[in-house]
Amino acid sequence: MFITFEGPDGCGKSTQSRLMAEKLEAAGYRVVYTREPGGTDIGRKIRQIVLSNANEGMSPIAEALLYAADRAQHVFEIIGPTLKAGRVVVSDRFVDSSFAYQAVALNVGMAEVKAANDIATGGLRPDLTILLDVDPRTGISRVKKAKSKGQAEAQVDRIEARDLEYHAVVRKAYLDMAAREPDRIKVVDATSGDVASVHSKVCDIVMGFFSSKDVSK
Ligand code: TMP
Repeated sequence: MFITFEGPDGCGKSTQSRLMAEKLEAAGYRVVYTREPGGTDIGRKIRQIVLSNANEGMSPIAEALLYAADRAQHVFEIIGPTLKAGRVVVSDRFVDSSFAYQAVALNVGMAEVKAANDIATGGLRPDLTILLDVDPRTGISRVKKAKSKGQAEAQVDRIEARDLEYHAVVRKAYLDMAAREPDRIKVVDATSGDVASVHSKVCDIVMGFFSSKDVSK
């Protein structure tokens, strides 16, 4: 079982994905929690390159391919072997992030990003995706607040620093994907920022999905 959490910056996805992984473990499932970019040692180096404000001149295609390279290593080293061993993978971001942020919002193109990611992942798709939806103004102001309080990586990174218009296109791209794939992508409103109430909605969806699929522990 492969579950992913997606959403625009500041949607609370890291907190919610961690809480859900802990909940599944407490329920007796064998879970590996991971994230993109940077779920592996090699991926952490790629994360540094792709998010560094020093790399302002990066081309959109180079950016898309760096995320795909991070993902190739992630599938090779962590996601693939974990799924093969019959465990549950909970990942904070996966291919849908590249569709929203690079294919649509940076105009790299859906077919191009899909082709690169099919090579990177062998066509692997999540069984279930939780999309935490937030409007960009709320999301980005949350990111800035967390960073100023030292709750996250020190600076607003190269992607977060893009304008609200870019983040609004990312959000719409996600909602369009959810409309196209309603069985896989479940949208949860994360505007309130109330961790407990969002967690409870996420839990209902994930636990309901696990019982419907009779996932073994
Ligand atoms: P994070 O804040 O969730 O750790 O993700 C880091 C940034 O990378 C975030 O702004 C979203 C961006 N991103 C992409 O643009 N494309 C991708 O494929 C992934 C995985 C992340």
